[in-house]
Amino acid sequence: MNSLATLLHERSVIVCVGAGGVGKTTTAAALALEAANRGRRVCVVTIDPARRLSDAMGLGADAPLGNEPQRVDVAINGELWAVMLDTSTTFDALIRTYALSDEQANTILTNDFFRNIADSMSGAHEYMAMEKLYELHNDDRFDLVIVDTPPTSNAIDFLEAPDRVTDFLDHRLYKVLVAPTGSFARVVNFAAQSFLRVVARIVSASVVDDAIEFFATFDGMEEGFRGRAVAVHNLLIADTTSFVLVTVPRNDTIDDATVFVEKLAEANINVEALVVNRVHPHFGTNELSGLAQGPLAPFVTVLNESQRVAAGEQNVLETLTRTLTNGAVVNVPFLDTDVHDLEGLGRLSRWLTPT
Ligand SMILES: Nc1ncnc2c1ncn2[C@@H]1O[C@H](COP(=O)(O)OP(=O)(O)OP(=O)(O)O)[C@@H](O)[C@H]1O
Ligand SMILES: [Mg+2]
Repeated sequence: MNSLATLLHERSVIVCVGAGGVGKTTTAAALALEAANRGRRVCVVTIDPARRLSDAMGLGADAPLGNEPQRVDVAINGELWAVMLDTSTTFDALIRTYALSDEQANTILTNDFFRNIADSMSGAHEYMAMEKLYELHNDDRFDLVIVDTPPTSNAIDFLEAPDRVTDFLDHRLYKVLVAPTGSFARVVNFAAQSFLRVVARIVSASVVDDAIEFFATFDGMEEGFRGRAVAVHNLLIADTTSFVLVTVPRNDTIDDATVFVEKLAEANINVEALVVNRVHPHFGTNELSGLAQGPLAPFVTVLNESQRVAAGEQNVLETLTRTLTNGAVVNVPFLDTDVHDLEGLGRLSRWLTPT
């Protein structure tokens, strides 16, 4: 079993997953700072459009994070970079990569049907996140990429996103529309056209024209997309990639986390570390029992209560830790303040990688 410190030294991708609000963004930022402190060149990427990562790192409004990695100004042994995913910029860049000409790229990018699926295709957002991860992973400037994901329910979409792209390309309708059968009919054959004309009675004709144009223009690009989707999938299941699950010691969150660990296992992914965030401290109160009647009685009552809460938390966690057969478990206490600067992240990382 590897400690989190070992993962920070050895892995090239670390994905932080977990339910909403448990501390994924904070943990991703703290792990990135710690790995950078240990000499690695780290890029932390957030998919959360809210400015939480900026906030957690204390970057402020004058240095907003964008779609390009930005170096964080901090004196450490390695380098710390951060980037906030912009889905549509990433999608557009991908189209430009696989288009056979600038003209083809421009036609697709200005096509309304494309804009619609780019914005609303289920999993498009998650796929772009994976795409960005792949791009950063292959960027020579970084040794380690740490990913801050959306809450668990979306994280499954996130993992399935590359497969969904290949499913779309394998879809029969798509195949009919771009069947390679020569000349113009090669692109949109007659049967498909009449099918789309029927559809045009339901939706507007211009939507259908856009769809025909999109599929016609997309012709020739699908191999690039398919190859990329497979590469992204392989990166997720590679030995050099680790999943870190963040949770809080509460029944409902732990149940979600347990289901998530099982789903990941089905996808051949092991959770290599569990971060239990906002844990109540465990006090030894036995020796205080003699004070229960004296002037310190109120303190003893509070300590006993918090002892009871802490013990309850550990019980709740047991099922989850049993599900994780080979993962490191670290507890991070409820800190007395929110984490909103590098100093706070430093405090947190001392709990994540105790010496
Ligand atoms: N151990 C801790 N002690 C005190 N405050 C914490 C701790 N961990 C996280 N926080 C605070 O809890 C809040 C939520 O944390 P964070 O944004 O990292 O959660 P998240 O899992 O990324 O949320 P979301 O699912 O909404 O993206 C933040 O204000 C953060 O500063
Ligand atoms: Mg977050």
